[in-house]
Amino acid sequence: MRVLAIETSCDETGVAIVEAQKNANGISFTVLGAALLSQAALHAQYGGVFPNLAKREHEKNLPVMLEEALQKADMLTTSEHGLILPNGRITNLEVDYIAVTHGPGLEPTLWSGINFAENLAKESGKPLVGINHMEGHLISSLARLDTYNSHILENMRMFELRDVKLPVLALLISGGHTEFVLMKKWFAYEVIGNTLDDAVGEAFDKVARMLGLPYPGGPELSRNAKRAREKGHESFAKLPRPMITTNNCDVSFSGLKTAALYALRDKGGVQNLSQEEKDAFAREFEDTVADVLVAKTRRALTETYAETFVIGGGVAANSHIRERLQTMIAEEFPNVEFRLPELSITGDNAIMIAQAALVRALENKLPVPSEPLRAVGNLSIAS
Ligand code: KG4
Ligand code: ZN
Repeated sequence: MRVLAIETSCDETGVAIVEAQKNANGISFTVLGAALLSQAALHAQYGGVFPNLAKREHEKNLPVMLEEALQKADMLTTSEHGLILPNGRITNLEVDYIAVTHGPGLEPTLWSGINFAENLAKESGKPLVGINHMEGHLISSLARLDTYNSHILENMRMFELRDVKLPVLALLISGGHTEFVLMKKWFAYEVIGNTLDDAVGEAFDKVARMLGLPYPGGPELSRNAKRAREKGHESFAKLPRPMITTNNCDVSFSGLKTAALYALRDKGGVQNLSQEEKDAFAREFEDTVADVLVAKTRRALTETYAETFVIGGGVAANSHIRERLQTMIAEEFPNVEFRLPELSITGDNAIMIAQAALVRALENKLPVPSEPLRAVGNLSIAS
């Protein structure tokens, strides 16, 4: 089974062609070709993603990414099996399905992916399926890189999805989402905790901006925090741990963001801080987020009796959060298996959309399209 997937929910344009096989052990995936282009540098001047600019960029980049992915997959030929004809038409596309993210995300950018995928489906005569972006994060995070069979080449990575013990608890943390999702049965999701306001990635990016770091500041803020941690530098201000003791799995980060703003203002602004002080403040912020996520994960694991815990989404790349969760689970939930996603697929990409589509296709759980696909900005994983 082979899927060509398209991802444009935010500021990453991704196209991937992935093949999957079901075997006695589970499902194995081979990434035949993947192309990914981040627009982050372009949006940095606005301090965040500018949706209409992102949409135009996706429209411009999608054909280029498609060609690159097909080329890597060795599916771009000029023979009678030719795919891209001089007039731009596509024939004989050797895939079983075309999959596209239809939500959640920014509606204008989702539409560029959907429109492109619809045209491709029409030209090639292949069926089109809509995939939930969060399901892509969740399923791809459960899959493991098959290091034995994977080639070093980026376009020949192999993943395996096997031995997943249910229920699975997923913590999905990205620029747009912070949610605890419980999967008791495959493809049946229940959101048991959510952010009441900002997503954790958004909080990282906003506090990073206060510290003068360019968008998306999450990874940079984390590097600065690491420096302070290594040197043992403590922050001049302590930040509140929002909702850490509330009796549920919800989180809130907008108060934390405001507290960070006031703490910096009390020091006369970020321009008055030395690099060491800024690093220590970044450390305090990252520690706060980690404290909250660890406490809420503890609660969610206790409440759900989950046997597998997985994290996904852009912030799942954060090494401090990964380590803190790992330590807590090893000490307090030794029977829970913690699956950490391979770093190259934590951020938005099309491989994860292909993997979700393939698992659904192989399990006969693809959604039956009753009407044309529509971009749904706030599409829930539980819908
Ligand atoms: O999943 P993703 O690529 O896009 C969305 O669906 O939002 O997540 C992007 C978010 C950004 O907010 C970015 O700053 C954050 O993930 N991020 C990080 C790290 N790497 C990416 N935040 C903290 N530490 C990191 N290492
Ligand atoms: Zn995402």
